[in-house]
Amino acid sequence: GKCILIGAGMDCGKRRRGCVMGPDAYRTAGIAEELSSLGWQVEDRGNVDGPVWVEDAPKGEVHALTECISWTEKLAKASKTAMKQGFPVFMGGDHALSLGTVAGVAAHAAERGRPLFVLWLDAHPDINTPQTTTSGNLHGTPIAYLTGQDGFEGFPPVPAPVPTENVCFIGLRSVDKPEREFIQQSGMTAIDMRYIDERGIAAPLREFLEKVAAANGLLHVSLDVDFLEPSIAPAVGTTVPGGATFREAHLVMEILHDSDLVTSLDLVELNPFLDDRGKTASLMVDLTASLFGRRVFDRPTHSYT
Ligand code: ARG
Ligand code: MN
Ligand code: MN
Ligand code: MN
Repeated sequence: GKCILIGAGMDCGKRRRGCVMGPDAYRTAGIAEELSSLGWQVEDRGNVDGPVWVEDAPKGEVHALTECISWTEKLAKASKTAMKQGFPVFMGGDHALSLGTVAGVAAHAAERGRPLFVLWLDAHPDINTPQTTTSGNLHGTPIAYLTGQDGFEGFPPVPAPVPTENVCFIGLRSVDKPEREFIQQSGMTAIDMRYIDERGIAAPLREFLEKVAAANGLLHVSLDVDFLEPSIAPAVGTTVPGGATFREAHLVMEILHDSDLVTSLDLVELNPFLDDRGKTASLMVDLTASLFGRRVFDRPTHSYT
């Protein structure tokens, strides 16, 4: 298959800066070479041009609204185009980039008459709205926007909102009160770390993938660095202790590969300014490689499923 790398150095979804360097950190860590070595044809489209100036809104007010809206418009276009041509990997950039990337993927899915499913691998559900946010950081809002919630005046209308039943969160351990209430009343699939401790990470993932397969859906995966345990992935501004381990994260990616359901991917929140000799960038590239088919050992007589 063909993989399209798209850099989006979006840094205005929160106040702490550094995600602007993310796309180049993934390139430096060898993302293109890794995916080529797995037999993929890789095209690096470079970085989407977005506004780089970051305003400093008073705490509590929505931060860099104009810039985020402009990024959303640009990324939705780039994403919809790329979906027609291959498997896009959006190299962020902070999580506000999903406002645009997933909107573009959703528009594409709607045109093809296929339902879109979203797997959100993150410590946070990012389902605040510009009204409910207490931080004012729009990286905490994409799921609300993409599922068609009110409060996003000034943003392009989402052409094809994702039904809340089609969203699955895995890795939750930091959820704001309004987010909790929304998740509870919407019946979204929310796998928190307690659930993973008790039942393992594979079973709930497989249940979700069965739903996607049964609906003949497209599947978008959004991987936030803070899904991972901070000791293995320190390069993120919003670390939360108790995240997915190295093997839990790889297992998720390996199962996703085997499912053959994933059609697009966001890599978000990497802040290379906070990294430790590139270890987080390298881990994110290795996880991407697992999603694209790398395995430790192929046993012709053994099936894992
Ligand atoms: N819930 C918090 C907020 O809305 C944290 C969001 C963190 N999001 C992220 N993509 N890291 O500000
Ligand atoms: Mn996030
Ligand atoms: Mn997060
Ligand atoms: Mn394969």
